[in-house]
Amino acid sequence: MEKLTVNYEGKPCYDVIIDKSFDNFPSDIIKDSARVCIITDDNVATVCLDSLKDVLGKDVLVYSIAPGEKNKNLDTVRDIYAFLVKNDLARSDVLVALGGGVVGDITGFVAATYKRGISFIQVPTSLLAMVDSSIGGKTGVDFDEYKNMVGAFYMPELVYINVEMLRSLPEREFYNGFAEAMKSALIRDSIYYSWLIDNMYEISDKEPETLIRLIKGSLSVKKDVVEKDPKEESLRMILNFGHTVGHAIEKYKGFELKHGECVALGCVCAAFISWKKDYLTMEEYYEIRDMFVPFNLPISTEMLDIDKVLDIMKKDKKFIDGRRRFILLKKIGKAVIDPDVTEQEIRASLEEINFDEAW
Ligand SMILES: NC(=O)c1ccc[n+]([C@@H]2O[C@H](COP(=O)([O-])OP(=O)(O)OC[C@H]3O[C@@H](n4cnc5c(N)ncnc54)[C@H](O)[C@@H]3O)[C@@H](O)[C@H]2O)c1
Repeated sequence: MEKLTVNYEGKPCYDVIIDKSFDNFPSDIIKDSARVCIITDDNVATVCLDSLKDVLGKDVLVYSIAPGEKNKNLDTVRDIYAFLVKNDLARSDVLVALGGGVVGDITGFVAATYKRGISFIQVPTSLLAMVDSSIGGKTGVDFDEYKNMVGAFYMPELVYINVEMLRSLPEREFYNGFAEAMKSALIRDSIYYSWLIDNMYEISDKEPETLIRLIKGSLSVKKDVVEKDPKEESLRMILNFGHTVGHAIEKYKGFELKHGECVALGCVCAAFISWKKDYLTMEEYYEIRDMFVPFNLPISTEMLDIDKVLDIMKKDKKFIDGRRRFILLKKIGKAVIDPDVTEQEIRASLEEINFDEAW
């Protein structure tokens, strides 16, 4: 078992436990008198719900949403509020998010707003949620065509990661999450980056101790960054490495590619610009690019209409003030916020990953 404590405003705020079972779930975190409502999705409910219910050892309410990003919206939030009101859930009760990043983000937002704030626990079940979205306190939903447009910063009471939950996760979803781990290594931890390269076969074999090390490495990076800048005023923006281009491609492709797949493409673009600005060597750029391949992540994509991708990027909320605050790599393990990336440089990076151009 591994345990990290995430601080907020200089004080310990919540623990993150990473384990091979639910055996170390600290049941005293939920008061005997508190009722519990598990929010999950229909896929996760069939494979993970019973083992969590056994651990909680009390009658629980369960609300299951339809899976997928298209349900991460205010309609789903409203349905959950209605369920909680109907079941008379009190402010002293607890919500548990059992699922991937979609369930975690929605549950966190409901917890932040229902009765002006109710406790919640994250039990992430996708690799993406384990290595990234379950910590840091960002919660929220999409609004119209804008991703994560409505939300709140709200901290969980506990994050409990049981790597056994990954057994049922589809392969494509597993590698989707790996992209965020790779991003964490690239922006802040060159030793972790080398460890990822050295352990690529063990990671793909999903050996439990390796998974615990993988998740701990990524969460340690995120913990360090969010503790220094909890509300994304400066440093935290480096977590968006690969996401500026990634989000635009995700939207351009109509969400046919997974988030992590788009982040991988975005990381390749950002590493390419970093090379062209002489921050990275050519060898480092190609090494980063090729590192995604054994993890079934794309490094090029077909038929990008580059003008359209650039248009979408300009509408991204991170670009709303008109500045292109692009996250680049000064070297492997050190990201910087670069305010001077030109449209031409972004265009060249998109040409690099455009299948027609790259091959
Ligand atoms: N809050 C943050 O800081 C933050 C950070 C990164 C990403 N996100 C958000 O996370 C979301 C993506 O998360 P995701 O990739 O986990 O997507 P997801 O929640 O949609 O899960 C992916 C799929 O895997 C299924 N699934 C999850 N765990 C499973 C398991 N153990 N067994 C079988 N199936 C399982 C889900 O039902 C779903 O179909 C996006 O909405 C993104 O915006 C948030």
